Amino acid sequence: MTIDKNFLSNIKKIQKNIDKILISYPFPDRPKYLYDPLKYVFNGKGKRLRPVLLILTGNAFGVEDRDLKNAALAVELLHNFTLVHDDIMDNDQMRHGQLTVQKKWDTSTSILAGDAIFVEAQRLIGKINTNSQIIFKRFNDVALDVCVGQAYDKENEGNDEITLDEYLHMIQNKTGALIGLCVEIPALLSSQDSKVCEQLREFGYNIGKAFQIQDDILEIFSDTKSMGKSLGSDILSKKQTALTITARKIVPKEWSKFCCLIEDYPIEKMINMLRSFYDQHNIYSEAKSLSDKYLQDGLDNLLFVPESNREELKLFTNYLKNREY
Ligand code: IPE
Ligand code: IPE
Ligand code: MG
Ligand code: MG
Repeated sequence: MTIDKNFLSNIKKIQKNIDKILISYPFPDRPKYLYDPLKYVFNGKGKRLRPVLLILTGNAFGVEDRDLKNAALAVELLHNFTLVHDDIMDNDQMRHGQLTVQKKWDTSTSILAGDAIFVEAQRLIGKINTNSQIIFKRFNDVALDVCVGQAYDKENEGNDEITLDEYLHMIQNKTGALIGLCVEIPALLSSQDSKVCEQLREFGYNIGKAFQIQDDILEIFSDTKSMGKSLGSDILSKKQTALTITARKIVPKEWSKFCCLIEDYPIEKMINMLRSFYDQHNIYSEAKSLSDKYLQDGLDNLLFVPESNREELKLFTNYLKNREY
């Protein structure tokens, strides 16, 4: 399925609008220690996929604009909070086409910036009028899910015994939960029955898992310029990814020899060698199929959503399938 032109221009419009709001966010000038990094983060070049998904879903369900806008900003802020702290945890240098906060300033600045972005996200979600209690609860459940996922991600660094199921559980938490929230909130805002909310949440978990598997692949097969973030830290911190787990499953002996062999090479050379290894042993295509399987599972969840509300979510899933950054 090719990408629908109207859909593309619609999401570009939403992305631009989110960028505009973030760039002109009314932060005070002082203390500079706090607000300069916040302004800097909000000026970064994110894809804004979470608010896009939330707004598309909200429009499909006929949700009122003000609640939708606050929810869209809240999820984007929650996402940015996790990224600011994730970059400390992963020791990364580039994010959203610019230096990470801890690289431009330092770790203390970055911790405080992340904290404040999270609090601002809470303030935004607190402005919601419709079904506010359950939405507030789900927002915080998900914020904690992300922490759980991030904890497993760190715990599993260097753990070459992690199973595929454990990996999937980790990424469902660190990435799927927030994407699930982006479709669940509009369903809650329009008081859908619990079966629809549940299936939408599952849809988000599934496409979120697919998205994270793609991210693991792009970390090796794309480049910093296209992605706007530093790549290679997965290798340096021995992250367990869809690629490493597949390699261990399909060619365990070759993989273990290969890991010893590349250990002392510079990172650029390591990435090149990994690309060849993953191509040669069909690991790239296996991981890609796994991601496609979760996109398909997501589409299957939509069968339980009223037909008139499905189209934009199908188009969004197809858009993710084709993403290159
Ligand atoms: C990055 O997410 C973190 C993951 C969950 C893989 P995005 O790719 O959506 O981040 P943006 O677009 O740079 O904000
Ligand atoms: C993504 O983390 C999930 C969160 C930030 C919660 P990663 O560490 O896998 O993503 P990138 O590659 O830094 O964007
Ligand atoms: Mg991480
Ligand atoms: Mg990271």
